Amino acid sequence: MAAGKSFCCQASLLILLSFVFLGLVSFPVEAAIKKYQFDIQVKNVSRLCHAKPIVTVNGRYPGPTIYAREGDRVLVNVTNHAQYNLSIHWHGLKQYRNGWADGPAYITQCPIQTGGSYTYDFNITGQRGTLWWHAHILWLRATVYGAIVIMPKVGTPFPFPQPAREFEVILGEWWNNDVEEIEKQGNQMGLPPNMSDAHTINGKPGPLFPCSEKHTYAIEVEKGKTYLLRIINAALNDELFFAIAGHNFTVVEVDAVYTKPFSTKSILIGPGQTTNVLVHANNVPSRYFMATRTFMDAPIPVDNKTATAILQYKGIPNTVIPSLPHQLPASNDSAFALSYNKKLKSLNTVQYPANVPLKVDRNLFFTIGLDKNPCPTCVNGTRLLASLNNISFVMPQTALLQAHYFDIKGVFKTDFPDQPLRPFNYTGAPLTANLGTSTGTRISKVAFNSTVEIVVQDTNLLTVESHPFHLHGYNFFVVGTGVGNFDPSKDPANYNLVDPIERNTIGVPTGGWVAIRFRADNPGVWFFHCHLELHTGWGLKTAFVVEDGPGEDQTVLPPPKDLPAC
Ligand SMILES: *[C@@H]1O[C@H](CO)[C@@H](O)[C@H](O)[C@H]1NC(C)=O
Ligand SMILES: *[C@@H]1O[C@H](CO)[C@@H](O)[C@H](O)[C@H]1NC(C)=O
Ligand SMILES: *[C@@H]1O[C@H](CO)[C@@H](O)[C@H](O)[C@H]1NC(C)=O
Ligand SMILES: *[C@@H]1O[C@H](CO)[C@@H](O)[C@H](O)[C@H]1NC(C)=O
Ligand SMILES: *[C@@H]1O[C@H](CO)[C@@H](O)[C@H](O)[C@H]1NC(C)=O
Ligand SMILES: *[C@@H]1O[C@H](CO)[C@@H](O)[C@H](O)[C@H]1NC(C)=O
Ligand SMILES: *[C@@H]1O[C@H](CO)[C@@H](O)[C@H](O)[C@H]1NC(C)=O
Ligand SMILES: *[C@@H]1O[C@H](CO)[C@@H](O)[C@H](O)[C@H]1NC(C)=O
Ligand SMILES: *[C@@H]1O[C@H](CO)[C@@H](O)[C@H](O)[C@H]1NC(C)=O
Ligand SMILES: *[C@@H]1O[C@H](CO)[C@@H](O)[C@H](O)[C@H]1NC(C)=O
Ligand SMILES: *[C@@H]1O[C@H](CO)[C@@H](O)[C@H](O)[C@H]1NC(C)=O
Ligand SMILES: *[C@@H]1O[C@H](CO)[C@@H](O)[C@H](O)[C@H]1NC(C)=O
Repeated sequence: MAAGKSFCCQASLLILLSFVFLGLVSFPVEAAIKKYQFDIQVKNVSRLCHAKPIVTVNGRYPGPTIYAREGDRVLVNVTNHAQYNLSIHWHGLKQYRNGWADGPAYITQCPIQTGGSYTYDFNITGQRGTLWWHAHILWLRATVYGAIVIMPKVGTPFPFPQPAREFEVILGEWWNNDVEEIEKQGNQMGLPPNMSDAHTINGKPGPLFPCSEKHTYAIEVEKGKTYLLRIINAALNDELFFAIAGHNFTVVEVDAVYTKPFSTKSILIGPGQTTNVLVHANNVPSRYFMATRTFMDAPIPVDNKTATAILQYKGIPNTVIPSLPHQLPASNDSAFALSYNKKLKSLNTVQYPANVPLKVDRNLFFTIGLDKNPCPTCVNGTRLLASLNNISFVMPQTALLQAHYFDIKGVFKTDFPDQPLRPFNYTGAPLTANLGTSTGTRISKVAFNSTVEIVVQDTNLLTVESHPFHLHGYNFFVVGTGVGNFDPSKDPANYNLVDPIERNTIGVPTGGWVAIRFRADNPGVWFFHCHLELHTGWGLKTAFVVEDGPGEDQTVLPPPKDLPAC
């Protein structure tokens, strides 16, 4: 049962305008239009001995992979046959001037209503590697997600040995009950909703779960060959470790950015992140488990069950019992998490430079807070919520990008504070007294092409915890990270401004901080949020409105005609 590259789409070479002649051989210039049809439909799916209707794309779980090449234009007509209004986010695509195709509901667009269609129309410029797409409203991305594979331009090899074959490996979470009921119940109670019943690998929990004979993903390898795994964490709420028994990984790319290759026994991958690894099939031919389980180094209950899939050498019968990856770090292994993240470095070659902003125009310092506000109808009389700089974000009724582009007043305020109003000992003893959080649709205005540094600081408000933060519309460089309180007088001296990792989602360490930099050269409204869906829902999010530049080609593009209305 190997990974099928089943195309769902009609890929048509429409822009075949020029040819390069080299002797008698001609090469088409590869820019193409790739068209996909995404029918959002409810389908009964059975896992762990339970059948339930789930929201899918084209009836598939996980959904279809988007295959494209750097330079392609992609058109995805999303038609919504489900009972929920929804939108799709193309996670990690920069969408230059084109926030209309970014997808987060009420940030860049109103959702596609039941019965409606919207065509996401975007160019893939200057990016190649593994990204992914997912629903960006409610908890629907629990089942509505799939891979995006962007091949380098024709004639441009990978900066690592060409693998014999490649596989997509999407990690996820499964609930036996309806995820929207789970989310709703949590919100009504003001408490965290029920945790997932299983983790999954390509939608399958594997043989350590009941009724999983048919629900085990497997790949076949040949001894001596090297394979590329495109790993995606599509889980809602869990950062995950992933390893293969008897095999090490060579990490070569994260978030569609090439890395300096390094060997590791396991990877750490947060929700939203992608990691490409090479696996050398160099062990005794047999069957080996690939396994994934949660990383959680704070006293917070999580789904700690291990999902497995099988790496099977050619010729080995299915009766051989696979061995488990004993090298998978313990769930609370903070030391592994910190050292793994430190190993990630940009390739930083002439062809793939790390253009790190060296001078910062705008310094931002955002604190993460978990909190409780009064809620008379909730179980404890309080509702859990989350905030940045003590502001819990309130979703607007009109999309922010529309409000910005058409200058609709009253939808948002651009007064999000650059620093916390009341500094405190962020990672000191648990802070439970005098809780209270302000709420609002408050975002930051950023000048076009200015350079921005954001230090995201975890706090001990209620509890410390690791938070994977995602920025839309940009990649950023992770110039520094540490445990404890960020020290502006000492920590910047230790920044890596030469070859820091460039990515779109980064884990803020438990009780620590991370510093990221980017150049704000993409005008529009761009979401910045914790990619744990639980925390996004609780308000751990804000947005940047990046102003237009002076040039004609530095302004937000006009909206497409079929942009959904609210
Ligand atoms: C799913 O199965 C239930 C019965 O188990 C059935 O009532 C329902 O119509 C099915 N839904 C779909 C979308 O097939
Ligand atoms: C999108 O798909 C729907 C349903 O198939 C169709 O009615 C609509 O015309 C399509 N839109 C475009 C722009 O092709
Ligand atoms: C994509 O590229 C094509 C060809 O250069 C251009 O016509 C189109 O406007 C671009 N679309 C977006 C959304 O940038
Ligand atoms: C959540 O879990 C509790 C306890 O197992 C169960 O009673 C409840 O029905 C679950 N909620 C949902 C929405 O499935
Ligand atoms: C994996 O790497 C470790 C550390 O470098 C090494 O000790 C081990 O032998 C490697 N395992 C395999 C299967 O190559
Ligand atoms: C997994 O989580 C459950 C429920 O929170 C807990 O009872 C159990 O001890 C945990 N198992 C491990 C191995 O940590
Ligand atoms: C991790 O959890 C185990 C128990 O499951 C405990 O013995 C160990 O001390 C913990 N390690 C850390 C670093 O907290
Ligand atoms: C809130 O309510 C839950 C469920 O009744 C209970 O387990 C928990 O201890 C309460 N937490 C606080 C902080 O009151
Ligand atoms: C902050 O709290 C920690 C832990 O309680 C403590 O060790 C540290 O001294 C405090 N820092 C300041 C500046 O008060
Ligand atoms: C957060 O804001 C609330 C409401 O304005 C206030 O009561 C609380 O003291 C603030 N907390 C912090 C840590 O600034
Ligand atoms: C942004 O600023 C940099 C540095 O000053 C400059 O090199 C670049 O051309 C500018 N980009 C745009 C689009 O104005
Ligand atoms: C979908 O959006 C429309 C328009 O905003 C709204 O009237 C309708 O209630 C929404 N449907 C759901 C299920 O939220």
